Amino acid sequence: MDQSTFSAVDAFIGETIAGEDEALRGAVEAAEEAGLPSIQVSPPQGKLLQLLVRLVGAKKILEFGTLGGYSAILMARALPEDGRLITLEAKPEYAEVARQSFERAGVGERVEVRVGPALEALPSLEGEAPFDLVFIDADKVNTPNYFAWALGNVNTGGLIIADNVVRDGSLADATAADDATKAQRRLHQMLADEDRVSATTIQTVGVKGYDGFLIARVEG
Ligand code: SAH
Ligand code: DHB
Ligand code: MG
Repeated sequence: MDQSTFSAVDAFIGETIAGEDEALRGAVEAAEEAGLPSIQVSPPQGKLLQLLVRLVGAKKILEFGTLGGYSAILMARALPEDGRLITLEAKPEYAEVARQSFERAGVGERVEVRVGPALEALPSLEGEAPFDLVFIDADKVNTPNYFAWALGNVNTGGLIIADNVVRDGSLADATAADDATKAQRRLHQMLADEDRVSATTIQTVGVKGYDGFLIARVEG
């Protein structure tokens, strides 16, 4: 099995059950044109996020890492009419591309992009908590910090999802020198004796290579 197979299978899933519509393709194109890196969730992963939003009946979502708005559009579309999504982005120029794509996708009313380093946004976000779902997908070294914050700011029954925790399998390497990997190991160790959540990590292959996400349900 190799990367071309993983990509071909993602393409088939995209052609059959997890397709992109005009607005999503538009968001990808706008991001490409503006020179943003192409690191958004894949269509099958995005569809999973949508299903999870619906499964927990989320009304309030917080996302760390907007990029061009691809994952935010998918999640926002799964919200009820009165649902809200706040997404945090460090780079003003990325936030601007995302805002335009939110308008074109018809979710502009429901989605708010806040610009700046996510850690700095957290104190003021406490006034807007609790959230029903938090998707952590920004600077990977801070994933444990964002997760720790989310633990106190997500409703019982809500979800905390962290993307890119497996990192080509380096998650299992106790000698890994890379700070992003060390952070994902620390996150798992932190959750080993954390009874406020029930969590697991799922390894994934696909168009984005070999990675995985952690998903945690906040317990009462
Ligand atoms: N969730 C997006 C992908 C996000 S990529 C999607 O799937 O469509 C990660 C994003 O996090 C990038 O846009 C990057 O600029 C942003 N980012 C990096 N460090 C950040 C920080 N400290 N605070 C907020 N955003 C940050
Ligand atoms: C990167 C970030 C992501 O969120 C992702 O899913 C893949 C790659 C990155 O920063 O390289
Ligand atoms: Mg990611």
